[in-house]
Amino acid sequence: MKVLSKDINEPDCECGALVLPCFEGEGIKFYEDIDRALDGVPSGIFESGEFRAKADGKSYVVQTFGKIKPARLLLLGLGKRDAFGRDRLRQAGGRAASALKGLGIKEGAVSTRLMADADLDPADFVEGALLSQYRFGAYRKEENGGRELEGLTVLTKEDLEARIGRAGIIAGAVKFARDLVNTPANDMTPLVLARTAMQFAGESVKVTVIEKDEAEKLGMGAYLSVARGSLEPPMFIVLSYLPVKDSAPVALIGKSITFDSGGISLKPSDGMEKMKYDMAGGAAVLGVIKAASEMKMPVNIIAVLPATENLPGGHATRPGDVARTVEGKTVEIINTDAEGRLVLADAIGYSKRFNPKAMVDIATLTGACSIALGNEAIAMMGNDEQLIGRMKAASDETAERVWQMPLYEEYGEYIKSDIADLKNTGGRSGSLVTAAYFLKEFAGKTPWVHLDIASTAWTDKDKPYIPKGATGIGVRLLLEFVRGVFAL
Ligand code: BES
Ligand code: MN
Ligand code: ZN
Repeated sequence: MKVLSKDINEPDCECGALVLPCFEGEGIKFYEDIDRALDGVPSGIFESGEFRAKADGKSYVVQTFGKIKPARLLLLGLGKRDAFGRDRLRQAGGRAASALKGLGIKEGAVSTRLMADADLDPADFVEGALLSQYRFGAYRKEENGGRELEGLTVLTKEDLEARIGRAGIIAGAVKFARDLVNTPANDMTPLVLARTAMQFAGESVKVTVIEKDEAEKLGMGAYLSVARGSLEPPMFIVLSYLPVKDSAPVALIGKSITFDSGGISLKPSDGMEKMKYDMAGGAAVLGVIKAASEMKMPVNIIAVLPATENLPGGHATRPGDVARTVEGKTVEIINTDAEGRLVLADAIGYSKRFNPKAMVDIATLTGACSIALGNEAIAMMGNDEQLIGRMKAASDETAERVWQMPLYEEYGEYIKSDIADLKNTGGRSGSLVTAAYFLKEFAGKTPWVHLDIASTAWTDKDKPYIPKGATGIGVRLLLEFVRGVFAL
């Protein structure tokens, strides 16, 4: 979908439909000229109660019969002004784009008169519109669900080019992450992920892939213990985007298990097909590098993706085995299905070599995440309240919600091993937080935040700007977070 901005008057805009966003209870306000040109039909629709612009996402189509240039009006209900905000505008953009597509319209336009009045940024509307039109079509012979909306023109007197351009880059990065996550594990192996990362290698982004032999030399025993059961070679992927001189980077670490069968502690087969999304953290981190470099953001980022499959095999790690991590701590592996924290332990340990000012890991880490929060928020834990506060602020801007959970010292008892420094599970109770507590042992003194996206990286139902499947969560949140950290 192509997005343009134009400084022309709404009635003069040639298009299949002109979207007129409306607040509940404000009638046809902002569009009186259009109402007059249509002999009062739009205002009549409000007065009769036929359409009330409620927050239910419904819209109403009015034919214009050549009285103005747009062939139709799409009255878009936003609900009450007081309850409206940034994310509702993204949702409105998504709903509008989907409604236009549903009408079979190729070229739509949107009026920004209301947005200007309510101090809203049309770029958020555009972001929602772009994100809503995502489809994963790579495995279908025939396109499903109709053609994409081809163009959206934003009618404005402001200069929005730069902001619309940024929205396009951000939406592009989210869609890129969604594609990686939706791709089945037979086509999204650690090697394919590494090659995908290599595509970003260039002047501003450096990419290094640490293969098995080197990972052994580096002592990444926890990471390699997960890879043992698979014939797919593990790829420990490191990207650096360091445009700012003499400034410590932020390390973003994304769990990249391309398929999680559980290993010898095999998962039940019911729903196992979804475990292709166990690399959603890595996909998000790659999306951040893509967008940050395209936007030339003045921030320094190291991205680390410990990629491997977790399969049972003749050489697979057994419950009871002990692995040695990159910094020397040993881990007794009680359950081979708690593999995320193993690969992250080495990824976090390795990231410290870059002397990052902050580390963030993002991971589909625990089933307990959805028990605690359902599908409505990312579970957030960390060792630095200021950094946690920054993540919360980024969350408020992007509506990728985070909710903090505690890391009380007492949880340390849960993961004490009888024979090693730690064990990799702490039992059922508190398993969302004990998983994070395990990671905390590897973060040490470096400010660190952990994001558990197990219950938000995938959605089984369509949302206004997130179609079913991979959500691409984390891309927008982390971009905003990194921007905040460097805007100090
Ligand atoms: N990748 C899973 C967590 C997960 C579950 C993500 C469901 C998305 C949906 C993770 O590797 C895992 O298996 N965790 C186990 C840990 C347990 C064995 C301690 C869990 O949470 O059940
Ligand atoms: Mn697992
Ligand atoms: Zn996993």
